[in-house]
Amino acid sequence: MSKQMSHLDNIPSTPGKFKMEKSAYVHHRLRWHSSLAKLTFWSFMFMGMILIFFFRSPSSNPLPQDPSRRSLRTYNWGGPAWEKRVRSSARIRSRNGISVLVTGAAGFVGTHVSAALKRRGDGVLGLDNFNDYYDPSLKRSRQAFLERSGVFIVEGDINDSALLRKLFEVVAFTHVMHLAAQAGVRYAMENPGSYVHSNIAGFVSLLEICKSANPQPAIVWASSSSVYGLNTKVAFSEKDRTDQPASLYAATKKAGEEIAHTYNHIYGLSLTGLRFFTVYGPWGRPDMAYFFFTRDILKGKSIPIFEAANHGTVARDFTYIDDIVKGCLGALDTSEKSTGSGGKKKGAAQLRVYNLGNTWPVPVSDLVSILERLLKVNAKRKVMKLPRNGDVPFTHANISLAQRELGYKPTTDLQSGLKKFVRWYLNYYSGGKKAAG
Ligand SMILES: NC(=O)c1ccc[n+]([C@@H]2O[C@H](COP(=O)([O-])OP(=O)(O)OC[C@H]3O[C@@H](n4cnc5c(N)ncnc54)[C@H](O)[C@@H]3O)[C@@H](O)[C@H]2O)c1
Ligand SMILES: *[C@@H]1O[C@H](CO)[C@@H](O)[C@H](O)[C@H]1NC(C)=O
Ligand SMILES: *[C@@H]1O[C@H](CO)[C@@H](O)[C@H](O)[C@H]1NC(C)=O
Repeated sequence: MSKQMSHLDNIPSTPGKFKMEKSAYVHHRLRWHSSLAKLTFWSFMFMGMILIFFFRSPSSNPLPQDPSRRSLRTYNWGGPAWEKRVRSSARIRSRNGISVLVTGAAGFVGTHVSAALKRRGDGVLGLDNFNDYYDPSLKRSRQAFLERSGVFIVEGDINDSALLRKLFEVVAFTHVMHLAAQAGVRYAMENPGSYVHSNIAGFVSLLEICKSANPQPAIVWASSSSVYGLNTKVAFSEKDRTDQPASLYAATKKAGEEIAHTYNHIYGLSLTGLRFFTVYGPWGRPDMAYFFFTRDILKGKSIPIFEAANHGTVARDFTYIDDIVKGCLGALDTSEKSTGSGGKKKGAAQLRVYNLGNTWPVPVSDLVSILERLLKVNAKRKVMKLPRNGDVPFTHANISLAQRELGYKPTTDLQSGLKKFVRWYLNYYSGGKKAAG
């Protein structure tokens, strides 16, 4: 991508060698004409190349798999028109509203949180690098959806300090909702560097900018229930141990929590971590079981149903997206101001972590039964051993802390939530759109 960019930059701006010379009038006119024709020709060529460059869909031209190459991508940002869009998107339109930078805004959770904030009159600016971990055209559709509600997503990387600094120059964000990350546990076999790039280096870059911003924003960020690793004590609570990660993903999320503690302690940043438990719903992620089970059941492909050691059931505490969004807004609304300025702490700042789950683990085989009923198709089940590549046998949230302090109260059961997901799925993938993957 960056290579192509620099090629484009290297095209001379006057390819027709447009040069005036002292000569006879007719001669001059002829030369003028042929030069003009050449100039027009090259201008069209140039514009054509620009158009091809911008309209080529990322899915038809996959990015290089190497993470170091991928992080070298350059993005177009800056300029008065761009700044105007940034300002307008981040403008607060209600009394007591907040202005929020939402990272990962083209992602599943980011899209829903951005839309909800915008609906209640807060200023929202999105940031996303539209990477190809899963079908980027789904991210583009979410972007178009947000665009219609007045949310602009800046295309760029959270590890790009110059871009982040610029965003804070243009807008004095009161809050950052940090949802950009390398999600998923299985991708670590293929691309371990992406977890380091987004969940560690990118998070540090973001916190560095927040620390130096004046005023410092309050930050709410997504951690994960995966930090509980292989714990077996039923109903994970925030005080439980988080020192046995079962995947590189979990390890980088755990590291993120420690990095957050450090920035809170040294620089007075107000930080709230949210440990999500298997979020699902419309606009969801194609790499998650409920999503690709739906796709594969419809295709007549067999569904792998994992079982834990000794034929144990694998169960997940599935949480519906609208409940998660309420938890995110609750966390933003109860955030206290950061206490530092000029990069120095002035007093102790708020530091919190909450489980956002549904407290009701459902065996994965039940998930398949619900999908069969909703899709009116029988699934071909294939029972398999849970591979040791990062998936834990079960998750179960104790949410009493979030209930007490954020007013968090999930209200959607798996059956009703999946009904809404299936309706969205069928609608989205009809109308000419191919099923993802
Ligand atoms: N969905 C779940 O079940 C779940 C569970 C636990 C934790 N989480 C966490 O919640 C957050 C949101 O998850 P999601 O399900 O919406 O995932 P998602 O992959 O749909 O969204 C993440 C978005 O961040 C973007 N992104 C990734 N790296 C980036 C970078 N370096 N710079 C800029 N943008 C970048 C991606 O393009 C993507 O659009 C993540 O931190 C994830 O780890 C999600
Ligand atoms: C993140 O950005 C810094 C420069 O800002 C760069 O040195 C570093 O290599 C990047 N890290 C990753 C993992 O891309
Ligand atoms: C849930 O966690 C709280 C502490 O946040 C604790 O007091 C309570 O006993 C826990 N409940 C269960 C069922 O484990």
